[in-house]
Amino acid sequence: KKEEMEERVREIKQQLGEELFIPGHHYQRDEVIQFADAVGDSLQLAQISAKNKKARHIVFCGVHFMAETADILTTPEQTVILPDMRAGCSMADMADIYQTERAWKELQALFGDTMLPLTYVNSTAAIKAFVGRNSGATVTSSNAHAMVQWAFEQKERILFLPDQHLGRNTAFDLGIGLDEMAVWNPISNELEYDGELSQVKVILWKGHCSVHENFTIQNVEHIRAADPSMRIIVHPECKREVVALADDNGSTKYIIEQIEAAEIGSAWAIGTEMNLVNRLIQQHPDKHIISLNPNMCPCLTMNRIDLPHLLWSLETIVEDKEGNVIKVEEQTAREAVLALERMLNR
Ligand code: 13P
Ligand code: SF4
Repeated sequence: KKEEMEERVREIKQQLGEELFIPGHHYQRDEVIQFADAVGDSLQLAQISAKNKKARHIVFCGVHFMAETADILTTPEQTVILPDMRAGCSMADMADIYQTERAWKELQALFGDTMLPLTYVNSTAAIKAFVGRNSGATVTSSNAHAMVQWAFEQKERILFLPDQHLGRNTAFDLGIGLDEMAVWNPISNELEYDGELSQVKVILWKGHCSVHENFTIQNVEHIRAADPSMRIIVHPECKREVVALADDNGSTKYIIEQIEAAEIGSAWAIGTEMNLVNRLIQQHPDKHIISLNPNMCPCLTMNRIDLPHLLWSLETIVEDKEGNVIKVEEQTAREAVLALERMLNR
């Protein structure tokens, strides 16, 4: 029963005290978030994990790449556990290391030594290691502008993995024209670009978030027609044309800050994951908040972490059983940390 499971989670948290740390991403279910010791976006959770030297067990309520990042940034004495191994990220799965190495070789044949790789943290540890050993860095949605600017201080061009939309939206905001952006298709192994190659400044990996792609121009038009006073704010993982029509865009942290600072009585349509939108609706009854897409758009893999999986992983700790430990191979971790530190130290 739900109440019994909740009671047992509380008991274990009490028993383990500071030895246990539960970070929770904003997109997690309420039944899980209620037990999180820290709630944040991907950047905040990476920073919090890096700072926490006390907890021996980190039960990461998020998706696989986040748990890998936490493992890379914590000490060997600390163990990172993912409550459900099926909690992956479809975007991170759109770039594997073999495709990336192959693309890099082909792109080098076209552009020589003029490119720096950047990867969204929503990527595997192996991709972060690739980026780390090629002098690049990770980015998150809350520092993408600063990191892309930094990359252009190092090299003429960037390869941006694996989310084409975050890459395109960020580069566009920094004044780079859409005609200066090419797309690398990892399936056909081809560069999708019509113009002169010498014009290319950004090469976008053809990946996307299956949640944020569900927000459409039609959704925006519908809201505009129904209530012109409603402000539309979306995550930069949404398509360029949706971001262009919205009033504002930013990371999950930025969206939360805008809603918190909004006037009482103001109306908002939000284009991001369902659990966060629902939580904002509950937390701000004095504001009129809806999802930009009436179908709400859940992240199915984030939702795989539920109360039974959280409790099961906590039980494995107290019973000293083998749980879902996330351990990044040593050499990969050594190179991935270079990419992460170039971001975190800025
Ligand atoms: P942020 O937490 O960086 O906003 O990213 C959103 C996301 O899709 C996480 O998987
Ligand atoms: Fe991946 Fe999108 Fe889910 Fe984030 S919301 S974990 S990017 S699929």
